Amino acid sequence: MAVIADRCPEIKVTLVDKDATKIDLWNSSDLSKLPIYEPGLKEVVERNRGINLYFSKDLKKSIEDADMIFISVNTPTKISGLGAGYASDLKWVESSARLVAKYAKGHTIVVEKSTVPVRTAELIQEILSNADNKKNIFEEKNFSVISSPEFLAEGTAIKDLENPDRVLIGGDDQLAVKLLKEIYLRWIPTDKILLTNIWSSELSKLIANAFLAQRVSSINSISSLCESTGADIKEVVLAIGYDKRIGRKFLSPGPGFGGSCFKKDILNLVYLCRFYKLEDVADYWEQVLILNEKHKERISSLIIDKFFGTVSNKKIIILGFAFKSNTNDTRESPAIKITKNLIENGAQLLINDPKVSRKQILEELEMEEFEIDNLSSGSWQFASDIEMASKEADAIVILTEWDEYKKINWESVSENMRKPSWIFDTRNILKEERLKKLNINYWQVGS
Ligand code: UGA
Repeated sequence: MAVIADRCPEIKVTLVDKDATKIDLWNSSDLSKLPIYEPGLKEVVERNRGINLYFSKDLKKSIEDADMIFISVNTPTKISGLGAGYASDLKWVESSARLVAKYAKGHTIVVEKSTVPVRTAELIQEILSNADNKKNIFEEKNFSVISSPEFLAEGTAIKDLENPDRVLIGGDDQLAVKLLKEIYLRWIPTDKILLTNIWSSELSKLIANAFLAQRVSSINSISSLCESTGADIKEVVLAIGYDKRIGRKFLSPGPGFGGSCFKKDILNLVYLCRFYKLEDVADYWEQVLILNEKHKERISSLIIDKFFGTVSNKKIIILGFAFKSNTNDTRESPAIKITKNLIENGAQLLINDPKVSRKQILEELEMEEFEIDNLSSGSWQFASDIEMASKEADAIVILTEWDEYKKINWESVSENMRKPSWIFDTRNILKEERLKKLNINYWQVGS
């Protein structure tokens, strides 16, 4: 929305949220307090806030005034009830639609921006068509529901929005589709704006994520085969990536995919397939998730194995807790499972991340403050100074590919460590020639 405001000065964009604290943070004069860290976002907000970009707690008035409303709420996996563990929970989409039904005036275009299961537009339409209408024809409200899923990735969100591979708009109401298309046309070439029916649009978002996640699981599965056979994953990626049909992108092995989307969307896809009695299709896609879970376990087991079966009382530095670099998002981060496994096995962890706070790690590890020092197994601390933390450390595990970690003085850090010491580079960010020169054991994924 901030990028739409940036590209369309004559359009007034208002963001509303029922969480007043969030709105206060978005309005904060100290731009370092914005609730999301995303490269370039601060600058876009600074350029437009108070001009044509507003953050408001006044849901009623903002909805009344709007010609077009983007429902952009989260759709987490259901934790109870029908479809628990697989289906997406649409309660936020539903309550947003109810608010729109209640407060909207005149004709309002409702854009489904959240990632939703196919046919969610039907639910929104149903709620809106039951909106209480006044008798007075001039105040009559009516709605057009269209779908326009978002394909940005975290860490590159602004770049992706400014120069997307495509924008997808699905819907039957040609005028509503045209009006949304005209917004994007201000900065996106017409051939990159795809128009489809509403169900294809909803489903394409799930399928794009499923295909991307499948690529990561595929390459991670091959990383273990490389380690067993003596092949090197970097060379394999190069060799297959030269084939234009395969391409080089999204083939980096790592500790397993994380983030709020891949797992949730594939679970949702599996649920959808089972709903339509497509069991083989459901099993096929579920395997992408099963492999991802096993891959994370493989990483923690491998670390334990290298220490001859025990990491009890070993001092291990964890570099990176975010699910990828350039974000402070830790949802479904592979670091959660890997660090939990190491703690359970008695390790003393020192966790660093340039953008993730100690409090956030505490929440992700589902621990209370008092528990940290009373763990019967291992424990963890936040480490802001990596060089200091490395004194007498037994291992360093790189879990997020932050640029900062490439710039560490690895020579001095490895000297500080207790021998025999290890570097486990799950993101292959360190050059092997450099590692070879250090007086240290090292392991890189797929080598
Ligand atoms: C993903 C999609 O890439 C976006 O197109 C989509 O809009 C978004 O989900 C969403 O549904 O909101 P995101 O989860 O932000 O974006 O990040 P990705 O870059 O896709 O990375 C996901 C995970 O896969 C990360 O843990 C990343 O480290 C991992 N990954 C990615 C790899 O391990 N190897 C790769 O080659 C690429």
